[in-house]
Amino acid sequence: MTAHNEAKKEDIAKIVLMAGDPLRAKKFAKKYLQKVKLVNSIRGMLAFTGYINEKRVTVMGHGMGMESIGIYAYELYKFYDVDIIIRFGSCGSYLKDLNLFDLVIAEEAYTESNYGLGFKNYNEDTIKASSELVEKFTKAAKDLNLNDKVKIGKIHSSMWFYTEGYSKSIKDYSDQKIIAVEMESYALYLIAKILNKKALTILTVSDNLVTKKETTAMERQEGFIDMFNLLKKFIINLS
Ligand code: HPA
Repeated sequence: MTAHNEAKKEDIAKIVLMAGDPLRAKKFAKKYLQKVKLVNSIRGMLAFTGYINEKRVTVMGHGMGMESIGIYAYELYKFYDVDIIIRFGSCGSYLKDLNLFDLVIAEEAYTESNYGLGFKNYNEDTIKASSELVEKFTKAAKDLNLNDKVKIGKIHSSMWFYTEGYSKSIKDYSDQKIIAVEMESYALYLIAKILNKKALTILTVSDNLVTKKETTAMERQEGFIDMFNLLKKFIINLS
């Protein structure tokens, strides 16, 4: 048990699926997990452990931003002996032709943050996900015939959701071959690297920052179904 997680060590599976919103984690757990048990509720950061096809998994929230996911991911890897964390979330697209509800497999994450200072002074602005997990998710997408909806690429882990007078434009990022923006993966990938563990983020496009198209809260409820099915297929393929 830690200051942020009341689960017993044996109540957390070796694979943890994490969503920013704990209620999205709950929704996934209730829909896809068998023999599901609530194992954490400190600060409302719900965590559930259960089974998908005999494979034991934990599904947990991680909050918003690198600082928040950093706390939970570090504790899961370090104190709960978790091997794999998959973050599933939403992103804003930097590409005109990435449609709402398309899926992104984030093989690399870029940030302008100095978050890496806290982890062996890591000072590269880009970090890779586990290539093994990228391959496994690519295979799961193929199995589900989702290839046309899936893009593999580099994402931006931004420090800001809101900015005023920010000097960089969306084009500056897309010129750097960055396809979408979220706020957590750089920290997750860095912590996984430092602790010799595996991590990957998969995302659903919830807004297109070029065309300004946005999904409504209602649409998002159903629109994440492809991502949920992809997670499920990934787990089934492991078992
Ligand atoms: N910025 C940062 N994170 C996000 C966004 C965004 O526009 N959309 C979804 N997650």
